[in-house]
Amino acid sequence: RKKSTMGRGSLIVFEGCDRAGKSTQCVKLVEALENSGTPAKLWRFPDRGTAIGGIISQYLEKKCELEDHAVHLLFSANRWEAVPKMKEHLLQGTTLIVDRYAFSGVAFTAAKQGFGLDWCRQPDIGLPKPDLILYLTLTPEEAAKRGGFGGERYENTPFQEKVAKNFEHLKENNWRVIDAGKDMESLHEEIQEITRAVIKDSKDKDIEKLWI
Ligand code: TYD
Ligand code: MG
Repeated sequence: RKKSTMGRGSLIVFEGCDRAGKSTQCVKLVEALENSGTPAKLWRFPDRGTAIGGIISQYLEKKCELEDHAVHLLFSANRWEAVPKMKEHLLQGTTLIVDRYAFSGVAFTAAKQGFGLDWCRQPDIGLPKPDLILYLTLTPEEAAKRGGFGGERYENTPFQEKVAKNFEHLKENNWRVIDAGKDMESLHEEIQEITRAVIKDSKDKDIEKLWI
């Protein structure tokens, strides 16, 4: 299919701590964009629907054990396998709203014993670079008020605290830190405003490569 004459879509990534409301905000944002005539599509990583994603899902559900390096590479492979489709959408003018990306990949694995940020970044080098990373933050007190964790791997406070520290090291100038403590609607308005500006601004820019 042809490249859009309206310009390309934007790659917008949500990252952040657990219970910050990433998934809710992603859905609301896609809806709002679509309703105003901006083609947008919801995307998420891991994509549990592929063969690789199936293994990852089993691992997260603690139905199998995997060596830590090996599972890191599977998370990365799960992104790379999506790249052709992602690029196709972007070039056709569809904005992708992505729930987690390579930053989660790095922040989570690097929270494990014996892993450094630098090693963790390597397999994701060269992925399509997001035009914007919306980093949703929540104080530990506010997070606690939102109820307990689920039963999946990584869903415990000490681990999540390490993850949050790692995210801090990954911030670059295309990150926007958003206080997820405010109410859902104000949050949605703030996110829309930032996103619409970025979509407008990236229309005519090339898709860059991550960490290159
Ligand atoms: P998921 O249920 O999809 O997300 P959420 O917990 O936000 O609802 O679970 C994804 C889990 O996998 C989450 O704990 C973060 C972790 N993860 C990694 O360890 N590496 C990665 O590359 C990604 C994308 C996620
Ligand atoms: Mg989960």
